[in-house]
Amino acid sequence: MNAMSKNLSELSGRKGLDKNLFEELGISADGSGSPGTEAMEKLREEFLVGKANVYGTVTFYDFLKPENKGKKVYVCNGSACMTAGTQEALSKELGKHYSAEEIGEMCCLGRCHENSAFHAGGKNYSGDAFTAIENIKKENAIIADHYQVGSMGTPIITKDYGEIKEYYQVFLNCLNKTPEALLDELKASGLRGRGGAGFSMAFKLDSCRNVKSDIKFIVCNADEGDPGAYSDRYILEQRPHALLMGMMIAGYITGAAHGVVYIRGEYPESVTIIQDAIEALRKEELIGKRVRGSGFDFDFKVIKAQGAYICGEETALLSSIEGQRPEVRVRPPYPTQQGLFNKPTVVNNVETLANLPFIMQEGGKAFAAIGTEKSTGTKLISLDGFFNRPGIYEVNMGTPLRVVIDELGGGFRQPVKAMHIGGPLGGLVPVAKIDELTVDFDSFAAAGFLLGHASVVCIPENFPLIKYLEHLFRFTAHESCGKCFPCRLGSTRGYEMLEKAQSTEYKIDRRLMNDLLETLETGSLCALGGGLPLPVKNALKYFDEELKAYFA
Ligand SMILES: Cc1cc2nc3c(=O)[nH]c(=O)nc-3n(C[C@H](O)[C@H](O)[C@H](O)COP(=O)(O)O)c2cc1C
Ligand code: SF4
Repeated sequence: MNAMSKNLSELSGRKGLDKNLFEELGISADGSGSPGTEAMEKLREEFLVGKANVYGTVTFYDFLKPENKGKKVYVCNGSACMTAGTQEALSKELGKHYSAEEIGEMCCLGRCHENSAFHAGGKNYSGDAFTAIENIKKENAIIADHYQVGSMGTPIITKDYGEIKEYYQVFLNCLNKTPEALLDELKASGLRGRGGAGFSMAFKLDSCRNVKSDIKFIVCNADEGDPGAYSDRYILEQRPHALLMGMMIAGYITGAAHGVVYIRGEYPESVTIIQDAIEALRKEELIGKRVRGSGFDFDFKVIKAQGAYICGEETALLSSIEGQRPEVRVRPPYPTQQGLFNKPTVVNNVETLANLPFIMQEGGKAFAAIGTEKSTGTKLISLDGFFNRPGIYEVNMGTPLRVVIDELGGGFRQPVKAMHIGGPLGGLVPVAKIDELTVDFDSFAAAGFLLGHASVVCIPENFPLIKYLEHLFRFTAHESCGKCFPCRLGSTRGYEMLEKAQSTEYKIDRRLMNDLLETLETGSLCALGGGLPLPVKNALKYFDEELKAYFA
């Protein structure tokens, strides 16, 4: 982090979380789609930051930037809706009810199981909801989506936890133990982060715990940006207390009194459900000062994001909360040393945190007994609309991928050639490889893929892979934070090449493409630019027959 942004973190920290610049910008954009000049000027004065800082922040986000002004309805342009081929018909139908200027795009609404997804009047819709567009426009009707929820093995997260009064007994029991004892359980569990990188959670909590500071934060990364993933959405909406209790336990272990839930703006329902769940905790006096007479203080703040994939990267996320332009920060210092407002901060994924109640109730050893030696516990998998039973499935780590696809998902409903697993930066798995993989970090890594957040986007036989690769480069170009040039420039050069090869006689020079991939992989600051080459290389390796026509 450079000195300038460090100073801005301090400045932002003076105001704290209660009234925060990022949130205020979102509030002033509500209704019109972008904050006006007057509102920006007022906030700039109030928060003592420069004009360029506020403008730089506003223009970064899909839902704050001036181009968003006047938008009334948004079509999901995520990978799953694209390969399902539902976007064109949906846009055409919406075009009958809204002017072209009123229709925007969002990515992704987490309705990958039903497709035809769109956002209107602050609510999400999918499936055949677009046939009722007049009602939606007039009455802002709620039309619920439907997906399967299942498990095989030990249900940890999908298990119903009943009434919160009884469920939170797990947390009250934690308060009778020392933070060290709880940390030992976590260490014994072997829990690794579910957000993509698979980093040890106990290590993170331990290092935050060891930094002396009066103020510390537990930040839940609920930005679930990977198109195709909706397992965090499932937890936020169906298991909110597993997540909130997980954050409280993490707070007790590290000595943090503040929990921030950063939820993507594309999940409006999740924001409301989490806010309600926090209020339910307040009523039960389970949060606040000296919870139930103990020495433990804890409270939550919910932050609604404004549409930027890179805000899922943990350091960009912290800058986002601070109201800065969300550029990735150079590490070290790590967030556990200097995170939100330069204070020690733990950032964990929704699913990671939601495992803590089970670990504290059943013990770390019981958790470690599930799954494999290096990938303990279970994993949620999101299956898209190409499956006969699309939905969220929880399986023990180490479960054969074939079992997930055939027994839980019910197989494909039309011929599929590849699955993009683990988000846009995950590997492209040809169907011929299914039997070689088990659902755990090591199996995927050993085969040259990535488990990531375990979302599955299918690519049907009839979908051109060259078009899919162009989509990945375009996605990266749109989402790049611009901090480092391999990603900022390379993503654009990539889609230009792929587009030209489809629309003209131009053939891509293989050496040039390989150079580009190597530069992205070795020269990028974060895993957006650094991760893009993986699916591209997989495609070049396994689908040469289909792709060679586009290369010299
Ligand atoms: C481009 C990019 C996007 C990311 N998006 C997310 C996300 O949406 N949710 C998430 O939990 N982690 C995301 N991550 C990973 C986070 O940086 C971080 O590793 C994670 O929140 C740590 O939590 P965990 O240890 O519980 O997995 C992303 C990383 C990158 C590079
Ligand atoms: S790789 Fe891309 S997103 Fe990551 S820091 Fe560089 S420019 Fe930003």
